[in-house]
Amino acid sequence: MSLVPFDDRDGQIWHDGRLVPWREAKIHVLTHALHYASCVFEGERVYNGKVFKLAEHSQRLIDSGRILGFEIPWSRAEIDAATEAVVKANGIVDGYVRPVAWRGAEQMGVSAQQTKIHMAIATWEWPAYFSPEARMRGIRLQIAKYARPAPNTAPTKSKAAGLYMICTLSKHAAEAEGYEDALMLDWRGQVAEATGANVFFVMDGKLHTPTPDCFLDGITRRTVIDLARKRGLEVVERAIMPDELTKANEAFLTGTAAEVTPVREIGPYHFQPGQITRVLMDDYDAAVGKTKA
Ligand SMILES: Cc1ncc(COP(=O)(O)O)c(C=O)c1O
Repeated sequence: MSLVPFDDRDGQIWHDGRLVPWREAKIHVLTHALHYASCVFEGERVYNGKVFKLAEHSQRLIDSGRILGFEIPWSRAEIDAATEAVVKANGIVDGYVRPVAWRGAEQMGVSAQQTKIHMAIATWEWPAYFSPEARMRGIRLQIAKYARPAPNTAPTKSKAAGLYMICTLSKHAAEAEGYEDALMLDWRGQVAEATGANVFFVMDGKLHTPTPDCFLDGITRRTVIDLARKRGLEVVERAIMPDELTKANEAFLTGTAAEVTPVREIGPYHFQPGQITRVLMDDYDAAVGKTKA
């Protein structure tokens, strides 16, 4: 697969208040965020030229920064407007948006009180590439060696760059053994989430999903819970232990990038992507305004 590097593309990136040519959106090597992970970000999807749940994502970016002890110097409305401007400037119809905010290079060391907060928003095309039939085959997940940390070990409610170190390690380990992704347990051994998506199970005709008390309560997760309830499905948020997965018939992931992705295997547990997953995939596609395949 030939990859076009992300620093060598055409287009424009919103950087600290203005649109700059793509290749000029740079930071210095002594940026605090690069050394100490003082960085938060978002992942958003553009459908038909419009960002799905834009206000929620912009607010979560601000909240993530506050959890890391910094205030992004743009309001939610300003971030929304900047996002819309960059999507328009790049002519993105179906794509992805990556806002990121970080501590700059004004101070180097663990203490970073004097750093300025910077922000950038980039967007690129990301057309859906799986047909519903291919997606229905379901993906395979390895159970990760790393656990999601406890809320008193890391700022687990922030979409903070530092929290993704164990996600990349877990995903690489899974890919090395032919899996698509990894399922992470939490520090108690309870089922938590995948490396970039939340997880749901169908058991006894009900939807079960872990309580998000030490990982991201995804915007897609909440959307899918609403869609399920509208269908009259009971949704149970609770602690789920891995050995309970023998009782699950269906499993799927939810996330801005993953949308609703059926899962057919998690370690020793097997599932059959089925009716409930299919209905929720279709309902999610309709909710985001995707034209039906
Ligand atoms: C670790 C992790 N969990 C869950 C999610 C799902 O969140 P959302 O549905 O808001 O994209 C994501 C994606 O952003 C993620 O990176």
